[in-house]
Amino acid sequence: MGKWKKKHLIDVTDLSEDELSGVLDLAAEFKEKGFGREPLKGMTVANMFYEASTRTANSFAQAARNIGCATLNFSKGSSSVSKGETLGDTARVIEAMGVDGFVIRHSAPGAAKLISAIVEGAVANGGDGRHAHPTQCLLDLMTMRGNNGGFKGLKVAIIGDILHSRVARSLMAGLGKLGAEVAVAGPSTMMPGTLPDGVMRLGGIEEAMGWAKVLYFLRIQLERQGRPLIASLREYHETYGLTAERMGSLKREQLIMHPGPVNRGVELAARSADCGAARILEQVANGVYVRMAVLYLLLSAAKGREVSIG
Ligand code: CP
Repeated sequence: MGKWKKKHLIDVTDLSEDELSGVLDLAAEFKEKGFGREPLKGMTVANMFYEASTRTANSFAQAARNIGCATLNFSKGSSSVSKGETLGDTARVIEAMGVDGFVIRHSAPGAAKLISAIVEGAVANGGDGRHAHPTQCLLDLMTMRGNNGGFKGLKVAIIGDILHSRVARSLMAGLGKLGAEVAVAGPSTMMPGTLPDGVMRLGGIEEAMGWAKVLYFLRIQLERQGRPLIASLREYHETYGLTAERMGSLKREQLIMHPGPVNRGVELAARSADCGAARILEQVANGVYVRMAVLYLLLSAAKGREVSIG
């Protein structure tokens, strides 16, 4: 049993194994028992989303409400950044209104860290460029743990655009810390030069399907690719996607995961996103519990309140 001390969550690499497990345990408690703790009444969380988001933005807003916080939601188009105000000045202005915590999504790696150095309140990274997406990682870990009972001996293959994916970077780090076996597969143009220690590179999707219990498909991130890295989306689907034919060869225990948004017919055949093996909506549901846990821990730490974990 330890005490949670961090008021910012920028990257899962900043968390110890105990802290990672502590967040997952608290999220599971919220899922099983509801929110029985003293709510963070009177606190406000600002959701600053400078990049499009359906899941993360709405899930953080729902999570904040569930733990008793008010929310202040704004996007790039509706903020004065479009008139030239800097991100740092915007955060200061918002904090002066009495905001206690910030969730930041931005296309620039390091944006959340920058804000955390400027404001007094808590900061959660909602995804920064190619760098990190810690709450996506936590909700994925929660879903895998819930379906597998733990991480020992769990084999996870991450398939697709590893190079541009903050989801892949965070997931490789989180799974590595918790002792799962991790491998990647994807086009050579979408592979980083080096992989984290212990992460294997597989020859292709057939090898991944023969090896892993969890097949984690990444979205093709055309918005982060400066030039075309694949011949066509159709060819990508045939080579690295879960086609209807491959879906037919899934083993009973295998799980399909995807961070969303899913490009049906690209990473996953149209029907496979809804098949019995898919855990995609379970991931989304778990995202609310994980973000409740994250906000509860970060805001409590920012106010000097002790919360036990573990
Ligand atoms: N997975 C994820 O980050 O989805 P959104 O872009 O919809 O938030």
